[in-house]
Amino acid sequence: MGMNIAIDGPAGAGKSTIARQIAGKLGYIYVDTGAMYRAMALHLLRGRILPTETDKIDEKCREADISIEYENGEQIVYLNGENVNGLIRTEEVGNMASASSPNPNVRRKLVELQQKLAADKDVVMDGRDIGTCVLPNAQVKVYLTADSRVRAERRYKELTDKGISCNLDEIERDIIERDHQDMTRELSPLMQAKDAVLVDSSHMTVEEAVDAVIALLQ
Ligand code: DC
Repeated sequence: MGMNIAIDGPAGAGKSTIARQIAGKLGYIYVDTGAMYRAMALHLLRGRILPTETDKIDEKCREADISIEYENGEQIVYLNGENVNGLIRTEEVGNMASASSPNPNVRRKLVELQQKLAADKDVVMDGRDIGTCVLPNAQVKVYLTADSRVRAERRYKELTDKGISCNLDEIERDIIERDHQDMTRELSPLMQAKDAVLVDSSHMTVEEAVDAVIALLQ
């Protein structure tokens, strides 16, 4: 087995930024599992499926072939052969990903793909159920979180920097709703694994959080 670092936590805690940097520093592969749920969500949205239409989600998810490739160290997600990296970062897709991820068939399919990617390789994988379900034997497990207000402020800054106008309170409300949805679902809900180390990034810089995780390896 290679070295496996599992990073779980709520939306906006900085998992992907931190996981990507750790992977770069250590020469590991970064696996972004949220992107796979987002690709599945895009497929459902294109089929005009609503998050509540459980039967249709089941049927639709069967025809979605999701695969991953790496180009210059960057993870590319393919949905039925199409590179969808540029299409999955919207709020709409994120919310649909959260709503459709409780579906057992969606999870079974994507967890299998994630486990295959990590077998015999050094990986940093982030998501909601990596330490608890996907890689239960990971050598390092981190539960990365931050105060919901801090997470909302980071998101607000990201959007306003891009010239997108938004409302801080609304963003925080969305974050809290997504946390609730991800933490209360029946199948592999978001929670801290028993053997995971809690890292609260509310008052940390990215570098400090990266160093805190790397220190756990030593
Ligand atoms: O990390 P993200 O925002 O890209 O994830 C989008 C949604 O996908 C998240 O709200 C819940 C779901 N997800 C999941 O259920 N399990 C994972 N390992 C990763 C994401």
